[in-house]
Amino acid sequence: MPHLPTLDDLDLSNKTVLVRVDLNVPVVEGIITDTTRIDRIVQTIRDITKVDGKAILISHFGRPMGQVNPDMSLEMVAPAVAKAMHRDVVFVPTDWNDVTAAKAAIDAAPDGAIMVLENTRFHPGEEKNDLELARRMATLGDIYVNDAFSAAHRAHASTEALAHLLPSVAGRAMQSELEALDAGLGNPLKPVIALVGGAKVSSKINLLESLVEKVDALVIGGGMANTFLYAGGIGIGNSLCEKDLSDTAGRIMDKADAAKCAIILPIDACVAWNFKADAPHRLYGLDAMDPDGMILDVGPSSIERIKGAIDDARTLIWNGPLGAFELNPFDKGTVEVARHAAKRTHDGHLISVAGGGDTVAALAHAGVKDQFTYVSTAGGAFLEWMEGKSLPGINALMAENS
Ligand code: 3PG
Ligand code: MG
Repeated sequence: MPHLPTLDDLDLSNKTVLVRVDLNVPVVEGIITDTTRIDRIVQTIRDITKVDGKAILISHFGRPMGQVNPDMSLEMVAPAVAKAMHRDVVFVPTDWNDVTAAKAAIDAAPDGAIMVLENTRFHPGEEKNDLELARRMATLGDIYVNDAFSAAHRAHASTEALAHLLPSVAGRAMQSELEALDAGLGNPLKPVIALVGGAKVSSKINLLESLVEKVDALVIGGGMANTFLYAGGIGIGNSLCEKDLSDTAGRIMDKADAAKCAIILPIDACVAWNFKADAPHRLYGLDAMDPDGMILDVGPSSIERIKGAIDDARTLIWNGPLGAFELNPFDKGTVEVARHAAKRTHDGHLISVAGGGDTVAALAHAGVKDQFTYVSTAGGAFLEWMEGKSLPGINALMAENS
């Protein structure tokens, strides 16, 4: 694997450093509900400012489709960066068609300043990986640092084209993300178990096909397990199921067989008749499912089976909840398994790596988000990495330094 260049490879002192971060944090009614992505970039900003470099943060926020949209301005995120840094942070209104004024503001700022520029997706060139836009961005700094693993699956002007225009390295968050991911799948301690859940098989077909070739056991949970059960001729009642993907599920099972990857499906389920919190529910073995019921979580025998499989593994990678974890009490399977994995990790038996928006929320809900070996802040990028795809944002850094 080519060497990933990092902050250690460049002299940052008194430089103006353009840092591509991911400030695409969850915001509900104007309040940032999770600052993890901001907390993770603190070290990179410190490493720049402690040697009197200026840290100029660039990021997208939401999907404004190339239009200026005040509801998606990064102005509202700048104070959260200031809070995480315990330092003043200046928001620079940025016209991505003409960066003259932004450049003047950056040049006028004192050494060690931290600045946040406007949402890169306010310009249509961002998502088109437009070279002209990237050239304008490049005029704003001496060095480019990419610290946004969670946006590395996008070949956009600020994640890809820009990396070819300035000396370019990975930031600390990117670096630790890649190291942890390598320990999870690149070069893992075996046996490796993968746990994949979530509602739909359709969104994770490539992932499942790729994982069965790489891991020793694959636990399938959540709504997507129903499609596999259905494909195996098991009654699933009224449960969420993509019946048209039966053949796909069958093909994945065959592939797993050939690759000697054990597929672990639920053997019992917590069943309800309404999809809502505290709905009346009962446990069923999957040999005797109620034809009107809906599977909303794995049952206790399945939980024990999954825990046992985790005990047999040295490495766990996890994406997607096992049940409707956002609804009490259908969070039980996800919570119990998460706590078990956290304990195995704590006791030194397991390397545990998890990622994906829902997964992080589920681990936080189980109270174990900080007890996994590594929790990725990435959604789509984590999935694409698990699928074995190469990520344009990382390739661009490697290409400039190979
Ligand atoms: C994310 O939240 O997954 C990243 O910020 C990327 O956002 P996107 O899916 O809109 O490209
Ligand atoms: Mg996304």
